[in-house]
Amino acid sequence: MDQKKMVCVITGASGGIGKEVVRTFCGHGYHVAMLDRDGELLEKTMQELGLDHSQASCYQLDISDQEQVKATVARIKAELTRVDVLVNAAGIVGRYAKTVDYDFENFKRIYAVNVFGTFLMMQNVLPIMVEQEQGAIVNFGSVSGMRGYTLEVGYGSSKWAAIGMTQNVANEYGGCGIRVNSVSPGWVDTGMMQRTLDNYRELGENGEITLGPSHRPAKPSEIADAVYFLSSPEASHINGANLVVDGGMLLG
Ligand SMILES: NC(=O)c1ccc[n+]([C@@H]2O[C@H](COP(=O)([O-])OP(=O)(O)OC[C@H]3O[C@@H](n4cnc5c(N)ncnc54)[C@H](O)[C@@H]3O)[C@@H](O)[C@H]2O)c1
Repeated sequence: MDQKKMVCVITGASGGIGKEVVRTFCGHGYHVAMLDRDGELLEKTMQELGLDHSQASCYQLDISDQEQVKATVARIKAELTRVDVLVNAAGIVGRYAKTVDYDFENFKRIYAVNVFGTFLMMQNVLPIMVEQEQGAIVNFGSVSGMRGYTLEVGYGSSKWAAIGMTQNVANEYGGCGIRVNSVSPGWVDTGMMQRTLDNYRELGENGEITLGPSHRPAKPSEIADAVYFLSSPEASHINGANLVVDGGMLLG
């Protein structure tokens, strides 16, 4: 890899949004470290995006596993030498249910990935950014982390936590040249959205979703553009913010 290239680490890189984040950062000349729990899909995603190993590197890991995160970030540091941007896009929605029926194992797994995984990635990447005296982190919240929607006590509260952690870390490291922000999408047209709609129907919900004045879900590329903006020099004084990208869905 070209040692002068900026490096962006993206978790959930094979997912609907993650893949577009990879495409966007590669398009802006970054070398991208693509992280996902599904190794085979990572290679397929690279092929699909037409990337070669001078543009991207693949790392399979489960972000909820402390040792795997530690070892993977150490490998990235050894192989790519730096981390300019970290995008924590990996996340799971789990199974929807009313609170009394919400399975505890499901709840714990959602927290393990969305909350602890995001924390572990930041904890292991931050020392590299502190040493560089420069870096940007973008976490994934959701409108689910800003309103008390029904059937998602676990997923929704995990996203409140992700937005909250963003502010904790932004405040702690803002003086070290590091900015930490979150993006909160409304509905985005990905596999996660389809799984959620299927789950609603299984629960006897009519599957009608609030889309707001745009009357459509976001395209994954529209979320990727917001992530790129937050990491870019154009956002140099934005720290601890939660950028809502929902087409106006929260307006009512
Ligand atoms: N799709 C939506 O409507 C929507 C709305 C708001 C927020 N979000 C958030 O956006 C982010 C991306 O969602 P998406 O729609 O692309 O979902 P997706 O299911 O298409 O992709 C998620 C990716 O994360 C990976 N992943 C899951 N658990 C992991 C783990 N333990 N370790 C490593 N990788 C793991 C999956 O393999 C997958 O590639 C998530 O944080 C999600 O909560 C999505």
